[in-house]
Amino acid sequence: MTPGWLLRGVRLYGEAPVDLLIKDGVIAEVGSGLRAHGADVFDVGGLVALPGLVDLHTHLREPGREDAETVTSGSRAAALGGFTAVHAMANTDPVADTAGVVEQVWRLGRETGLVDVAPVGAVTVGLGGSQLAELGAMADSAARVRMFSDDGHCVSDPALMRRALEYVKAFGGVIAQHAEEHRLTEGAQMNEGVHSARLGLTGWPAAAEEAIIARDVLLAEHVGSRLHVCHVSTAGSVELLRWAKGRGVDVTAEVTPHHLLLTDELAATYDPVYKVNPPLRTACDVEALRAGLADGTIDAVATDHAPHAVEDKECEWGAARPGMLGLQQALSIVQLTMVDTGRLDWRGVADRMSARPARIGGTVRDGHGGDLVAGAPANLLLLDPAVTSVVDPAELASRSRNTPYAGRELPGRVVATFLRGVPTVLDGKAQA
Ligand code: DOR
Repeated sequence: MTPGWLLRGVRLYGEAPVDLLIKDGVIAEVGSGLRAHGADVFDVGGLVALPGLVDLHTHLREPGREDAETVTSGSRAAALGGFTAVHAMANTDPVADTAGVVEQVWRLGRETGLVDVAPVGAVTVGLGGSQLAELGAMADSAARVRMFSDDGHCVSDPALMRRALEYVKAFGGVIAQHAEEHRLTEGAQMNEGVHSARLGLTGWPAAAEEAIIARDVLLAEHVGSRLHVCHVSTAGSVELLRWAKGRGVDVTAEVTPHHLLLTDELAATYDPVYKVNPPLRTACDVEALRAGLADGTIDAVATDHAPHAVEDKECEWGAARPGMLGLQQALSIVQLTMVDTGRLDWRGVADRMSARPARIGGTVRDGHGGDLVAGAPANLLLLDPAVTSVVDPAELASRSRNTPYAGRELPGRVVATFLRGVPTVLDGKAQA
């Protein structure tokens, strides 16, 4: 065990400066004029401390597409982005639909040790949509899976969705739905609207997302189970969620950083870096998503970090895979769209990017999502919100380069990240 760290002059949640002593993996003391007791002193004058971020939606691509990302490279990107826990999506090859695969991903995460990697289990065998996967076995495995998703695909069959919701109730699990009525999105390339009409690209209508959310909140209400909606992207979805929460349905939802910032106008560039599923939507949708996140209708920001190899992205729009990198710039995008616009303060950011996602995905049990108070596990990040930098894809930790923010000047820099008191990032550099 290291002698610990004394962070001098740190602004917890952006508030007045205090000292914070980290010892034996926990926040030992918070106060002014603290003594170091042998700990390394880190004069952080003015940096903002937030609880370690928790990502409910990360594609780590291992096993199967280690050319695009590995658990190690993705963990590094996550730590650099201020995350201390990420949920690894199940659409790997082989699919994470058995205890064996989720344990493999979980162990790779432990070996890397930069963030806690919590595998998501597939809902259906091979993401095929026709047969329930071994949900109980994955829950009982060493990975203790609590979140299940066929992300990339919708669980389309309503009877199967109902069974899955019923099944996970037994162990406090949650079904995270990729809401897409596939019959309405056949051949879709971008958001359906004026821009798709002008560009002559097949559109992905908002109704394809909203129809599934409407169905699933009714199912969750009917069986009294817990539903989480992945990457909400339309104003109508926010309205449906508000309605469902008002009725007392046990539903939570996430929004991605890119849906908080970017719009479907970018498709006019034909640069496939902007191709994503669900697609970038309109400025009205962006406004509704920001408002929904601010008022808590949308519970969490989740990255949908989706690394893709060069040959899958640097090709014509129609052939390119959907998805964009998200981990390293997520907090900057949230600062830009929510904090600098006055819609959330840093406590609000901590709630939407740490506390609520930790509760939804279950990583609370591993000490994530807690407040920065004495006695809590020392999972935290230090942020300099005053600096800006231009995103250079070549400098990213991911194995892939498909960031939609290349060349953009973004605010905020994660200076350090601590996982159970151990720095995983120091002076902006990953420690492994
Ligand atoms: O854009 C996306 N990419 N959306 C998804 O749902 C899946 C993801 C991926 O795996 O690349």
